[in-house]
Amino acid sequence: MKDIEKQLPLILIDNVDFTYPSGTKALRNINLKIDNKELIGIMGKNGAGKTTLIRTLNGLIRPKNGTIYLYGENIASKSIATLSKKVGVIFQNPMHQLFSNSVKDEIEFSLKSFEFTKGEIQNKTNEILKEFNLEKYRNRSPLNLSGGEAKKLALASIICRDPDIIVFDEPTLGQDGREIEFLINLIKNERKKGKTIIIVTHNIEFANEYIPRTILMADGLILADGPTEKVLGNQILVEKSSLILPQTHQINLALQKSGIECPNNLFSKGKLINFIKDFIKNKTSEIVEGND
Ligand SMILES: Nc1ncnc2c1ncn2[C@@H]1O[C@H](COP(=O)(O)OP(=O)(O)O)[C@@H](O)[C@H]1O
Ligand SMILES: [Mg+2]
Repeated sequence: MKDIEKQLPLILIDNVDFTYPSGTKALRNINLKIDNKELIGIMGKNGAGKTTLIRTLNGLIRPKNGTIYLYGENIASKSIATLSKKVGVIFQNPMHQLFSNSVKDEIEFSLKSFEFTKGEIQNKTNEILKEFNLEKYRNRSPLNLSGGEAKKLALASIICRDPDIIVFDEPTLGQDGREIEFLINLIKNERKKGKTIIIVTHNIEFANEYIPRTILMADGLILADGPTEKVLGNQILVEKSSLILPQTHQINLALQKSGIECPNNLFSKGKLINFIKDFIKNKTSEIVEGND
């Protein structure tokens, strides 16, 4: 990255509108800045325009009005192939993304657009299949994988390309606890590598616990954009978006209602548990002292 590029936001979306040929206005007046290395969530009810928005980032959807800049450059004239090397989008339905005859072929195909030698492609494929625990399925057709495994393969086929920006569309949907844990570790690792990560999700607990900045969308508009604890703590906005207030916020409200004074930043599970632990400890010592 050149020095000047480091000062620009990594992604700048300037006044973007998009209407599908059917006449649905999916994006209206979208303005958004995303900096390098951010982890950002996009939330909002079905049909809000979340998927449409992320599809503009790798050129799958070209806005009718407005401009999208990546590293300060207008992406309008850049091909999907070029953009996909920088922006890896993992779709909600893995079957829209997988089309090879075997798991191994899927990864090899994904690596083909780079200037790797055959040997390098083989090594990288083996590495990624190991990392994603997919080695045992290397010769199996993606059609014969479980939903969770197919989602993992779709993810592996993007991560192996080492994109600077990783975009997930509903990654926790239909995933079991272990698969979500795998995803959380993967996100942590990719962040350590300096990646920028955008996650479209309906999973409010996941967003509340792991995502620092949240954008809330409705009817193609951005309703709110800010620190997750503020955005997801706004009961009116959250309900308007067909979401349920995160549990830590609900517990905070219940504690306050019952007259317990608590600081207003207890929005992670860890902080809340520590507060309750200290509260109980103090109460217990009051009782013990009272007995003396
Ligand atoms: N290919 C399409 N053709 C026509 N309308 C579409 C298409 N994809 C999405 N839409 C419409 O655009 C709006 C936004 O959809 P989408 O971006 O998929 O929302 P979200 O991901 O937030 O659920 C919805 O009204 C949806 O019905
Ligand atoms: Mg969607």
